[in-house]
Amino acid sequence: MTPKVDIYPDRQALIAAALETIVARIHTAISERQTCSIALSGGSTPQPLYAALAQADLPWDRLQIFWGDERYVPATDPDSNYGMAKRVWLDLVPIPAANIHPMPTHFDRPQLAAEEYERQTLAQFGLETGSIPVFDIILLGIGDDGHTASLFPHTAALSVADRLITVGDKDGQPRITFTFPLLNRARCAIFLVAGASKQPALAEIFAPTGDIHTYPSRGVQPQGELLWLLDAAAGERLAPR
Ligand code: 6PG
Repeated sequence: MTPKVDIYPDRQALIAAALETIVARIHTAISERQTCSIALSGGSTPQPLYAALAQADLPWDRLQIFWGDERYVPATDPDSNYGMAKRVWLDLVPIPAANIHPMPTHFDRPQLAAEEYERQTLAQFGLETGSIPVFDIILLGIGDDGHTASLFPHTAALSVADRLITVGDKDGQPRITFTFPLLNRARCAIFLVAGASKQPALAEIFAPTGDIHTYPSRGVQPQGELLWLLDAAAGERLAPR
């Protein structure tokens, strides 16, 4: 599907628009299928969005919350994507604990964690090994290097085609991450991008030609909607002249 790009004057407007976009899709998913599956991104950009979601009036028992990637650290670690969302959002709303599916980070080997999360995700969707779950919403960010989730440039994770979850590698630091096959089954993939530091990567991601091994975010081509929500600082070079 052709990407839809919306550029907002500042971060506050960006977060307000992202909240509206996500809440609308949550209600649509629940009205159609009585449930909504969301995979969260990490990093700093989505934090105010998660804080805003904590104030939303949503059918919390109908939401299933997953993570699209995770640093391989305990939940109590300041770098934990789960820990951040839990602190600013999930601890503040009456969502059943059974509906929250953090990526495991306690196995000795990250590969075992990836395999376990794949099992948990398939089970939650009631699917057999070999099937690919369709997430209603997958939230994503991009790094200054053009990575998304924990699919970093020139890493083996970019080529994984037969698994849903794999081990990412950020400068030797292990991550757990969705793979492109899982990302690209999404009903709606939403990139939330803010700040001038993202301009060069965005220019390459939106260039007519390019290589997903250099700019992995180019590889996100979901079967459903692809929405890019940017602030003006990030989207300056993409804005129509
Ligand atoms: C992570 C994220 C990652 C993030 C980008 C942007 O675990 O770090 O999932 O893909 O979205 O690195 O991070 P910022 O929002 O902090 O710029």
